[in-house]
Formats: sequence, structure tokens, C-alpha cells
Amino acid sequence: MQTIKIALLGFGTVGQGVFQILNEKKEEFRNFFGIDVEVVGVLIRDVEKLRPLPAHLFVTDRFEDIASIPDVDVVFEAIVGEEPAYSYLTYFLERGIHVITANKAMFAKHGLSLQKVAENYDATIGYEATTAGGVPIIKTLKNLLQVNEVENIAGILNGTSNFILSEMRTAKCTFEEALQNAQDFGYAEADPTDDVSGKDAFRKLMILSQLAFGRQPSWEDVEVRGIQTLTLRDIEEAEESGMRYRHVAEVNITGSGNLQAVVRPLLVGPSHPLYTVDGVDNAIVIDSEYLGKLTLIGPGAGRFPTGSAMVEDFVQVISSKPKVIIPQ
Ligand code: NDP
Ligand code: HSE
Repeated sequence: MQTIKIALLGFGTVGQGVFQILNEKKEEFRNFFGIDVEVVGVLIRDVEKLRPLPAHLFVTDRFEDIASIPDVDVVFEAIVGEEPAYSYLTYFLERGIHVITANKAMFAKHGLSLQKVAENYDATIGYEATTAGGVPIIKTLKNLLQVNEVENIAGILNGTSNFILSEMRTAKCTFEEALQNAQDFGYAEADPTDDVSGKDAFRKLMILSQLAFGRQPSWEDVEVRGIQTLTLRDIEEAEESGMRYRHVAEVNITGSGNLQAVVRPLLVGPSHPLYTVDGVDNAIVIDSEYLGKLTLIGPGAGRFPTGSAMVEDFVQVISSKPKVIIPQ
């Protein structure tokens, strides 16, 4: 049986989720795809932390250490920030090694260049987990783009912000309490500033724009506002008038072919498709040529939804065939 050797870059919330799912699905990989999966290296930063894996698997972020991971077939990347992630993924792709990333801060800026490297070296780059956690927005967009022109994409793209707004409304938490809960659940970034300032949703919107329109608007032209200025009173007043605040990121193409994008808190009423989307869920409404409006809703952050999205990309890598489910 063929063994697929895996390197995990990052062993935090997401990296550990990927590791657990790969372990729990070992039998299925054997039975359906005829492969064994073996993790041969794990990149971390802090060598002092206690880890539930043998010490010989761990490497630190010195480049020589990364290059010493033996015979890797697939790399999962879930570390923080543009660098060193971009350099490492370039390094692996240039060796024809497939990579799967959850790192939207890196991918929003360098995704196009990484996709070109991947193409040149006959490798693939999976990025489903960069946008909307477990919601299959990337594969859905790729599918519908085969037939449709996309006209507008609007949605809740940050799970932490939606969770905070929901907790403040339903449990009357303060902003700080709700943010602390989002951090405890592993939804928030290591530094949650980007979650609550709208920057994280903006990056995901840019990834969607690149895919749907083949380009991004100039970043400096996009108005980006977060939820951090909303008070409990604002949220209560909205509720009293039958409205709810949602943090909505939106990009559309104008008649003259320009892209317009905005990221901001928006008051929506009961008939709006985002009105009932609560907790850590993300939701995206795609408006396209023949299909019309399609709405996807689901968990937008967290260990297992994000891990699932990455392992789905892995399944794409190991087989072009969908898994065959035999009815009992
Ligand atoms: P964590 O902070 O929980 O884990 C990050 C991991 O990466 C840790 O193991 C850390 O090492 C390691 N790491 C961080 N920076 C470096 C570096 N410079 N060099 C080497 N190792 C590094 O983050 P998450 O797991 O939550 O997120 C990981 C990535 O996935 C981020 O890019 C995030 O934006 C993205 N993401 C997160 C989601 C979520 O729900 N949490 C959802 C979708 C995407 P150490 O263990 O030593 O600290
Ligand atoms: N911090 C991000 C969020 C993780 O809350 O949406 C998922 O990308």
C-alpha cells in the first residue's frame, strides 16, 4: 500500500484538528483510496510547550529544520501571518509537493503567486479553509463559475464577530466577555484585533473576489469597519426595532466592469437572508448569472470545521474520484 507522508506546519487549534481527523479517518483512506497516511514532521514555534506527540516529529521554524523533513508528499499549513508561511509554501510547491493552507492573511496577498508556482511545478494548492471555515464556499464557487458569471457576493465571513454579536444580543454579554468566549472556543485569531476590526473578513472577501472575478479591488479603496464600536445598547436598540446587526462583507461588479467592495456592520430585518445566522456560523449569498441567489450557511471557524475543510482538500489531492459510499 502507498504511504502518503504529511508535514503539518502549525499544531494549534487548526493543526491539531487536522491531525485528529487524519488519524480518525485512517481506515477510510486505506479502504477507499488504498493509501496509508503518515505524519512525518510538525512545525511549531515554542519548543517548551508540552505536546501529545513524540518529540522527534517536531521541528522549529528555522528554515534548515523545515527542509530536513523527509520525503513529504503533502503539506498542511496552519500557522499565523504572511511569513514564514509564504516562503515555506513556495519552497514546497517548487519541489512539486502539494500544499493545503488555512492561512488567509498569507493567501489573500500571495494566493495568486502561489497558484502560479503550483501550476509551474505540477503541484496543487488547496485553500478551502482560508474562507468561511467549514463552509464549502471555494469548491462551490469553482463549480458554479464553470457556467455562471458571478455578479455579487455578500456575507458574514468572520465567525468571531458573528459570535460576539449573537452573544451580546442573546446572553446580554459585554463585548469583552463575548470575545473571551470566542477565544476560549478557538474561533478568534491569536491576536483578535483582525477579527473585530473587519480585517479578517476583508482578507476573505479578497480571496473570494480573486476567485470569482479573477482580480481584487485596490485594497486602499475598500472601506473596512469592524464591530468593535458597537455597544450592548446599540444591539438592544436594534433588537427592539425588529432589526439585527450583522457584520457583512460584500463585493460586486458594476456595469462598467469595476469592482466595488465594502466590509461593515449592517442593520438587517427579518426578511434578510443573514438575519437568522447566529453564533459562529458564516453565511454567503452568491448572486450569479443563471443560478440566481445561492446561500451557504455553516460553521465559520473552529478546530473541526476548519480541519474538515483542509482534509476535504487533501481528499481532492489523493484522488480525483469522489469517495464511493456503498448504501447498507
Ligand atoms: P493557533 O495560534 O492556535 O496555532 C498556530 C500554530 O502555528 C501553533 O502551533 C504555533 O506554534 C505555530 N506557529 C505560529 N506562528 C509560527 C511561526 N512563525 N513559525 C512556526 N510556527 C508558528 O492558530 P490557529 O490554529 O487558530 O490558526 C492557524 C491558522 O489558521 C491561522 O493562519 C488562522 O488565521 C487560520 N485559521 C484559523 C481558524 C480557526 O478557527 N482558528 C479557521 C480558519 C483559518 P506553537 O504551538 O509553538 O505556538
Ligand atoms: N478568526 C476567524 C474567524 C477564524 O473568527 O472567522 C476563521 O477564519
